Amino acid sequence: MTATPLIDPFQRTIDYLRVSVTDRCDFRCVYCMSENMTFLPKKELLTLEELDRMCSTFVGLGVKKLRITGGEPLVRRDIMTFFQRMSRHLDSGALRELTLTTNGSQLEKYADDLYAAGVRRINVSLDTLDDQKFADITRWGRLPQVMRGIDAAQKAGLRIKINAVALKGFNEDELFTMVDWCAERDMDLTFIEVMPMGDIGNENRLGQYWALSDLRDSLRERFTLTDLAERTGGPARYVRLEETGQKLGFITPLTHNFCESCNRVRLTCTGELYMCLGQEDMADLRKPLRDYPEDDRALENAIRAAIALKPKGHDFDYSRQKLDGQMPRHMSHTGG
Ligand code: GTP
Ligand code: 5AD
Ligand code: SF4
Repeated sequence: MTATPLIDPFQRTIDYLRVSVTDRCDFRCVYCMSENMTFLPKKELLTLEELDRMCSTFVGLGVKKLRITGGEPLVRRDIMTFFQRMSRHLDSGALRELTLTTNGSQLEKYADDLYAAGVRRINVSLDTLDDQKFADITRWGRLPQVMRGIDAAQKAGLRIKINAVALKGFNEDELFTMVDWCAERDMDLTFIEVMPMGDIGNENRLGQYWALSDLRDSLRERFTLTDLAERTGGPARYVRLEETGQKLGFITPLTHNFCESCNRVRLTCTGELYMCLGQEDMADLRKPLRDYPEDDRALENAIRAAIALKPKGHDFDYSRQKLDGQMPRHMSHTGG
């Protein structure tokens, strides 16, 4: 069956679905969550069977890349069953990539199972290589556990990309340490500009916005940077460090808006579809899913109707005194 692909009003083809399978996490990163979060009651969540049906419907509509996120996706009970089920879409060739974004805490336990389910490349969020700073920024996380997870993942054959949120006064001094560490371990590295998400208060902000244009200037003190044209279907733009041959990515929602090439939508763990990370527009897909358990047509129609409402882009802006475009939603709600 070949359905018409999902194309939004700005002629962007939507073939990348990010699925948050839980809003819970075993960390409390200061830029993501408050210390005492209220999480959704379990009965609100889509079951793993429902998540399967939802994702499979998207795959039927042309989604080629599926990224599982959270919260922390690997803290959801029995999540490996879901990965195993999704691997049938890799086998059939319908899906090009099944992957996840994780904080790494559970990788020691699951790395082999992920590989067996067809996952080949994962993104691990890690902002510092210093034990104390790691404990400070994640509040509940401990670096050695994540390091063991990264070891296990590489041993299992998974390729790793490290995602580091760039925070002035926090990891500025570790720029070269992190670049060198990733080179030694043959891992990719991407820096992300911190986005104004969630009502997380200012009292516990360990660092602040560090424009990646400044970070690039710092890199130039030691390296020659060449811009690369290649894209992975994500928002990162890449450079090569000529001295080491290493590839670095930059995700710059603030200094360089990349919305014009947006190819993705986000499904939350309760079945809401968010058409943009930086806007409130969403569609409830749980209702058509549950109202018609035997027939996917209502769900497909709801998905197409939602895509027809995808906004042009976000409105994040730090250039004024107040944080413009601030999203009251937490990042863990949509999984970044
Ligand atoms: P690959 O390119 O496949 O490696 O992945 P990716 O960059 O799409 O996924 P990843 O989960 O590593 O994304 C990293 C972070 O970039 C997210 O958690 C968000 O913080 C940010 N990000 C991803 N997509 C968007 C987007 O559409 N808009 C904005 N503003 N930020 C995004
Ligand atoms: N701004 C930028 N990135 C964020 N992340 C979480 N909250 C924010 C924020 N406010 C990142 C995490 C992880 C990914 C899922 O989103 O560090 O890499
Ligand atoms: Fe958890 Fe990731 Fe949010 Fe940190 S950024 S609290 S690891 S979901």
